[in-house]
Amino acid sequence: MKIVAAILGVIVVGALFFYGWHTPKTETAVKPGASVSPVVPPGVTVAGDELGQQLFKDNCAACHGVNGTGSENGPPFMHKVYEPNHHGDMAFQLAAKNGVRAHHWNFGNMPPVAGVTEEEVTEITKFIRKLQKANGIF
Ligand code: HEC
Repeated sequence: MKIVAAILGVIVVGALFFYGWHTPKTETAVKPGASVSPVVPPGVTVAGDELGQQLFKDNCAACHGVNGTGSENGPPFMHKVYEPNHHGDMAFQLAAKNGVRAHHWNFGNMPPVAGVTEEEVTEITKFIRKLQKANGIF
């Protein structure tokens, strides 16, 4: 009987270990472009927001992709991770000003973006929100 109990014990502990004790993975990195909603062609989504679009193109698109769809250097904004409830508008100001330490993805750190003013980042953020909305992110 003791042997049976011991075997059962091993099985139970083993099962617990297998199913329960795995540390849950945090946000797994998504390949750029993967699981991103199709991007509505610019012009449809960004009517009236040419300034934000231009500023984004000049300062952010090299990493975040022309339509915020990401690139090999940075994550897509057309992704639920960056919806307003998860990353508020302030996150954009802080990112541009201070840079971002890599924590959601495997692209490395984002360096601070020199030469964009707070007003310009506000325009960029408006553009991103419009594009996100048009893509059903929120
Ligand atoms: C040199 C590449 C690069 C450029 C240029 C760049 N970014 Fe980033 N950005 C990144 C990377 C990489 C991350 C992801 C860091 C992480 O979470 O792993 C990121 C993350 C962010 C985040 C998320 C911040 C957070 O709190 O998680 C915001 C917002 C952001 N960038 C805004 C901008 C804006 C606005 C611009 C242009 C003014 C810009 N980025 C330009 C590479 C870049």
